[in-house]
Amino acid sequence: MKLQEIFDSYKENIMPTYTKAPLIFVKGKGSRLWDIHNKQYLDFFPGWGVGNLGHCHPKVMQAVRDQISKLIFIPNNYHHIPQAKLAKELIFWNYPGKVFFCNSGAEANEGAIKLSRKFGASTTLSANGERTHLTSFKVCSEPIEGQSRTIGKGRYEIITFQGSFHGRTLAALAATGQKKYQEGFEPLPEGFKTVKFNDIEEVKKAITDKTAAIMLELIQGEGGINAARQDFVLALRKICDEKNLLLIIDEVQTGVGRTGKLFCYQHYGITPDVMTLAKALGGGLPIGVMIVKKEIADILQPGTHASTFGGGPVICKAALAVLRAIQKEKLLANTQEMGEYLFSKINGLKDKYSIIKDVRGLGLMLGMELGIEGKMIVTKCQESGLLINCTHDKVLRLMPALNITKKEIDKAVAILEKAIRDVSMAGKQS
Ligand SMILES: Cc1ncc(COP(=O)(O)O)c(C=O)c1O
Repeated sequence: MKLQEIFDSYKENIMPTYTKAPLIFVKGKGSRLWDIHNKQYLDFFPGWGVGNLGHCHPKVMQAVRDQISKLIFIPNNYHHIPQAKLAKELIFWNYPGKVFFCNSGAEANEGAIKLSRKFGASTTLSANGERTHLTSFKVCSEPIEGQSRTIGKGRYEIITFQGSFHGRTLAALAATGQKKYQEGFEPLPEGFKTVKFNDIEEVKKAITDKTAAIMLELIQGEGGINAARQDFVLALRKICDEKNLLLIIDEVQTGVGRTGKLFCYQHYGITPDVMTLAKALGGGLPIGVMIVKKEIADILQPGTHASTFGGGPVICKAALAVLRAIQKEKLLANTQEMGEYLFSKINGLKDKYSIIKDVRGLGLMLGMELGIEGKMIVTKCQESGLLINCTHDKVLRLMPALNITKKEIDKAVAILEKAIRDVSMAGKQS
């Protein structure tokens, strides 16, 4: 295919749901990508959070090759070894529970929403304040202080937060706390209340007899790298325990080592009731996972939820390779060390350039808030061989692979600094 034919095919045959840069990539290795002209790029936003191991990690490629030559697909009404192993590994690194496999972050969140509704429908609060279940699933039977009325069947509301992003399917979109993604798709499924992030009083006010769950990202990624405060998260955990609500943590972007711990909730001293994962876990292949704490993990029974491709043999082998590489290559320690290095470098730029208003994030998830739109800087970096992202118009987002080196960071920061300098000077001249 000639260059122009490729662009024409996209224009004529592919729905225009993405704004695309005029780049055609043909090869990737670690943090480097090569385009069709053999120009090399340093990728500081690999796969929108997918590339925690960078591109084409050799262990992931080997695992995929091995599995493809044996068995590509087997449906979920049978058993296979890679799925059994991956489930065991995910539970080992988390909390006692069970997993549900699917194919994307939105799908994992849909699963969590459905689970919350089943949970809400099947739990009640008895007149003497004891929590009981309407089905055989036992959640908890201790009395709840100060509660003596019946909540009753049919709790279905989920509290979510302004600035959040949970995916593009209808329920995940309804959970998302950003109007711009929802416009034009109304009516959205009901049962979601969006309140101010990091404001526990707002959460308390929003809880009613119909509330079943609270859902949040600990660091809002698409929302501009906004971290939840620890006291807020601890208070959420307490409220969920007291009121028998599920705490759903969306780790689609923060999970799998991104913040310097395997899962971001481990920074906060809490355990979720439900966690969702996707993006980086598959090493470049599509996966979604919902991990549900043991006491409620049997709520979704045969016939209530499913996903044809979820947890297939190839993707499970790839995900196992990802988790092993993170351990073997000590990538959590590297993320902490390189994260500190990257933050110190970017804070150095903040001291020099007044257009940088704030630098925030954790591990290798960094946001730089600008006083101007970031589009020009992203384009200039791209021209100079550095790929970064801009979210919320003004927040530059850097999320390099967890195996990034100091040398690569130095190179990226030099390119970024030049772009910032050029844009700052152009701003002063106009
Ligand atoms: C926190 C979070 N949740 C959910 C999603 C949706 O994931 P997917 O695009 O795999 O459906 C995203 C995607 O960016 C995300 O960042």
